[in-house]
Amino acid sequence: MTQHPQLAILGFGTMGQAICSGLVEASGYPAGLIHAVDVHPAAMKPRAEALGIRLSKEADGAVKAAEVVLLCVKPKELKGLLDGLTVAGALDHRPLLVSIAAGVTLDFLVAHTPAGTPLVRAMPNTPCAIRRGMTVLAAGQGVTEAQLAQARTLFEPLGRVMDLDEKHMDAVTGLSASGPAFMFVILESLAEGGVQCGLPRAVATELAAQMTLGAASMVLETGRHPAALKDEVTTPAGCTIAGLMVLEDGRIRSVVARGIERATQVAAGLG
Ligand SMILES: NC(=O)c1ccc[n+]([C@@H]2O[C@H](COP(=O)([O-])OP(=O)(O)OC[C@H]3O[C@@H](n4cnc5c(N)ncnc54)[C@H](OP(=O)(O)O)[C@@H]3O)[C@@H](O)[C@H]2O)c1
Repeated sequence: MTQHPQLAILGFGTMGQAICSGLVEASGYPAGLIHAVDVHPAAMKPRAEALGIRLSKEADGAVKAAEVVLLCVKPKELKGLLDGLTVAGALDHRPLLVSIAAGVTLDFLVAHTPAGTPLVRAMPNTPCAIRRGMTVLAAGQGVTEAQLAQARTLFEPLGRVMDLDEKHMDAVTGLSASGPAFMFVILESLAEGGVQCGLPRAVATELAAQMTLGAASMVLETGRHPAALKDEVTTPAGCTIAGLMVLEDGRIRSVVARGIERATQVAAGLG
């Protein structure tokens, strides 16, 4: 397989566009090698034109020409799409299929593709659009190291990539894929606190976002436990411990953790 394989992106919605933007704008993936397919191409035409990629309704043609196919439709659309491609013979050349559909198992993908189709399950998130994404990959049976590497090279330019056993994928979805929405609510709440204490909203939002980025980077770059880093900021009888007491009164830990638990349960039922 070539360094930049001919790529079909099926479903050019939020995630299809986020991944495509990251590939073309941030990693220099040749736009001419990408054919995106959507049921409403007219609505997405301006975005496709800005990226320089081809966009059409022709899934069969795009897949027949592709070495790698990225499945970016909603979980409930996947069965019809894969069955249609199989019947049309579009998968006869056995391209590498990479599905990002939440809750859709490798077993399901095996059942709806021709025998021997190499399959990888991936769970990216929307920050992939600005190269700050997190993608977890789980390889299907028989996928070679070279094929997994090919899937990895699609997502590596978009942020971090991790390989995990498929049994973790629902939890990955609840934490890493739903997580940006949770963080936006937390960021908004932090900014509201600043506004309540007199900061202009734009200032409060910028402070909240940069502070969050800095704190997350400290965890990733030092490898230290968040609790140890928290203890270092917490002066006895100071303002930080006073604020932490209020957060603990509101059961912040269990509320956030249970949010991830609930998202994981729902993700498991999506397929
Ligand atoms: N959103 C996230 O943060 C996130 C993160 C990780 C993974 N995912 C997964 O990514 C997948 C896509 O999610 P999304 O949020 O990007 O959904 P989305 O915005 O609805 O995009 C899906 C696009 O595919 C189109 N489509 C439907 N059937 C199709 C078909 N047969 N052929 C081609 N295109 C078709 C849809 O059109 P219609 O709108 O007309 O149906 C829509 O434009 C889902 O499986 C989801 O589980 C999402």
